[in-house]
Amino acid sequence: MCGVVGYIGLEDCATVILNGLKKLEYRGYDSAGLAISETAGALKVIRAEGKLSNLEKIFYQEPFEGTRGLGHIRWATHGAPTEINAHPHVAGSIVLAHNGIIENYRELRDKLAALGREFSSATDTEVVAHLIDSELKSASSLHDAVLKSLAQVEGSYAFVVMDINEPDTLVVARNAAPMVLGRSDTAAFAASDIPAVLEHTRKFVFLHDGDTAVLTREKTSIFDVSGTPVERPEKHIQWDPISAEKQGYKHFMLKEIFEQPTRIIDTLRGRADVEAGDINLGEVDIDPEFLKKVNRITVVACGGSFYSAMVSKYFIEEHTRIPVDVELASEYRYRKPIIDENTLCLAISQSGETADTLAALREAKRLGAKVMSICNVIESSIPRESDGVLYTHAGPEISVASTKASTTQLVALSMLGIWLGRRKGTLSAEQGRSWIEALRAVPTSIEAVLTNLEPYKDVAKTYASASSFLYLGRGQQYPVALEGALKLKEISYIHAEGYASGEMKHGPIALIDEKMPVVAIALKDTVYDKTISNLMEAHARGGKIIALVSEGDRSLSDTAEIVIELPQVDERVQSIITYVAVQLISYFIADLKGTDIDQPRNLAKSVTVE
Ligand code: G6P
Repeated sequence: MCGVVGYIGLEDCATVILNGLKKLEYRGYDSAGLAISETAGALKVIRAEGKLSNLEKIFYQEPFEGTRGLGHIRWATHGAPTEINAHPHVAGSIVLAHNGIIENYRELRDKLAALGREFSSATDTEVVAHLIDSELKSASSLHDAVLKSLAQVEGSYAFVVMDINEPDTLVVARNAAPMVLGRSDTAAFAASDIPAVLEHTRKFVFLHDGDTAVLTREKTSIFDVSGTPVERPEKHIQWDPISAEKQGYKHFMLKEIFEQPTRIIDTLRGRADVEAGDINLGEVDIDPEFLKKVNRITVVACGGSFYSAMVSKYFIEEHTRIPVDVELASEYRYRKPIIDENTLCLAISQSGETADTLAALREAKRLGAKVMSICNVIESSIPRESDGVLYTHAGPEISVASTKASTTQLVALSMLGIWLGRRKGTLSAEQGRSWIEALRAVPTSIEAVLTNLEPYKDVAKTYASASSFLYLGRGQQYPVALEGALKLKEISYIHAEGYASGEMKHGPIALIDEKMPVVAIALKDTVYDKTISNLMEAHARGGKIIALVSEGDRSLSDTAEIVIELPQVDERVQSIITYVAVQLISYFIADLKGTDIDQPRNLAKSVTVE
């Protein structure tokens, strides 16, 4: 997830682009770049590692001018966040900035290398720049070269490209990544999101997947996937600049909840091989011979990442037959853990910088374990110190309470389960295939959840004044209950406890009275009947039941105060859907209470102290 801004017009555009990138910093902030090319053959490019302010510093030391240019703010997916990997990438006369993931970039890179092309970065984007430059030789225009190139590209992309020898155009392409076009009296703009150029225009056109566009100073021409000219309606945007950054959502947390279907698709992209019923984790650099011998997996993590690990214990153990220990990193590091040379230590962290997780990883390594990590921030400390890493592609998460990072962790953990199971021989190709298909169906089921928010708002209206909540779940839904309670505590400041349904009678049942809302996850899974019995025990003590049930299950209508039906999906991926449901319950309760949802008191997004 990166941010792109393009400009062609009558005015000097470097600061327009830099200011646009500033508004897109929530899309990425590990490196940035700017390219200006006004007259044929002329090009000025600057790039910098780290925050946008580093790039600005370079620019203002030696400012340059021009009326055509593009800029990029990066959230790395391929290649470390270094200056060399920062966009724009230049290949021959082509200058390109891209947001997305090119799935077949390795193949394309090999093909182009065989033709004598040399690459200076480790990115998928540079490959596309070279591809367009090589197509340019036989193309009638830059747009023609882009169309010829896109016919060979698989994956998601939103890019702006210019040819330094064709100074009057900017070409834009979009597929499964956002790109909007804007036009003022003096210029045409392309951007990943509206806020980037909202101060210059309020008239926007939204490209469809597969569309390309040619922007000149005078006009914008749009073409569909077959290269045929099309009209796309122009919309007048009235958002104020602040809500525009949240794309109209009231909080980043809600925006990130809604982003989940797309981020899950991004995380699966290029890795799921349905036909083989396997996962392609070529990026994980761990000796396959070692993996065949793994006899124990120890997962270390903190906070939400710890609960993702707990969920995964259920499906990884079931389908790989490898015992999985899930450990709080802060405990693990001080408790003399038992490790042998066949132990795989798995560190899970959104930020990749959590001090306790990093220390636990170092301890496991010191004791001889191989360490793998699941992380959202490329080249952060935890992946850097791991033997192998599987990145989630959630993009930057701004809200302190984790949502999309957690659900993409569950997807990554499922992929790891399939991968290990296939290598261990405990999972057949057919089982792998059905698991992958279940994962691929998850985004649609989440979208179904997100189209009906009323039940969650009802919970908020009815129970926002409660002083304590109990969350119950069994099996894989037990850690979801823990995650639900954590989310509620974090953002609404209401005390909440998560409990395994079967354990309720051993303690928390004493707390239940008619003031206590009980969020009970009671899906039609293998432990359904048991869960219902536990729920009845809570109901008999006067607890107010909020039941999360499988679609069509009306059996709790008389017992529960509020019943929320959720899409029935494969049990192996069911917790991803219930995660979304518990996120929504906490969000709407916190919203009604008026707390500072994106930055709750006393909490930090990344905890780099012990
Ligand atoms: C902090 C954040 C949580 C996060 C936890 C672990 O407490 O507020 O949202 O789950 O750290 O962070 P990590 O980056 O390691 O996943």
